[in-house]
Amino acid sequence: MGQRDCCDCDCDDCCNCSWTAIIIWVVVGIVLTVVLIVLILAFAVIKPPKATADDALLTRFSLAPSTNASTPQLQLLSYNATVTISLRNPNMYYGISYSDLATVFSFNGTKFDELGTVRAFDQGAKKTTAVRLTVGGVAKALPKLSAAGPAEFTKEKEAGTFQIEARLDGVMQYKGRSKKCPLVVICPLKLQLVDPDVAATAFQQTKCTILRAKTSGC
Ligand SMILES: *[C@@H]1O[C@H](CO)[C@@H](O)[C@H](O)[C@H]1NC(C)=O
Ligand SMILES: *[C@@H]1O[C@H](CO)[C@@H](O)[C@H](O)[C@H]1NC(C)=O
Ligand SMILES: *[C@@H]1O[C@H](CO)[C@@H](O)[C@H](O)[C@H]1NC(C)=O
Repeated sequence: MGQRDCCDCDCDDCCNCSWTAIIIWVVVGIVLTVVLIVLILAFAVIKPPKATADDALLTRFSLAPSTNASTPQLQLLSYNATVTISLRNPNMYYGISYSDLATVFSFNGTKFDELGTVRAFDQGAKKTTAVRLTVGGVAKALPKLSAAGPAEFTKEKEAGTFQIEARLDGVMQYKGRSKKCPLVVICPLKLQLVDPDVAATAFQQTKCTILRAKTSGC
């Protein structure tokens, strides 16, 4: 009798051989499954970017009624702020292209600065990009501020912390994909007014919310 193949053995002394074969196949199966899962995670599952506000400095924030007698209800805001927002691409394979991102700052639900733009940029897989926003305005009229706005301002001023929302608005595209996906980053900031000549208070890193379209591929 010649050498017998493991696969068609039918006697007891073949059992060792069969068990070895089974174990090898199970291990091969597990390895293939792991490789498949990694490939699926890297190529098929696309994750949106994550964002945090890493640093922020508010050096001026004052609200005062207009001194113009014809518009006594009008509130005027003077402000200077710098905010650093980090966008992180969590994907193992896909890079991301961001369009120009419009920056909008709001207080009490009212926009007070929406002129800024972050220039379009590309981001590799697993990379983080920090964008720095600097805004300032002197006695800027806020016609849309609600009647409760000034009261809220006074309350927050007394508490020593202003609640300001920074928002980025634009479009992003995963590299190698044709779909353009709307992207909105909302960072709710709690800012203490800081004298620029005095040492800055530590800013608590804040998580930002990412809003994205609920369409496939985004
Ligand atoms: C007050 O407001 C009116 C209307 O907006 C404007 O025509 C006028 O020049 C303002 N007066 C001053 C002193 O700014
Ligand atoms: C604005 O401030 C008022 C008064 O505190 C508050 O009731 C209201 O919820 C605030 N609105 C927003 C959008 O934060
Ligand atoms: C604050 O903002 C105003 C208006 O943009 C600007 O003229 C001024 O230089 C800023 N001040 C500081 C300290 O950045």
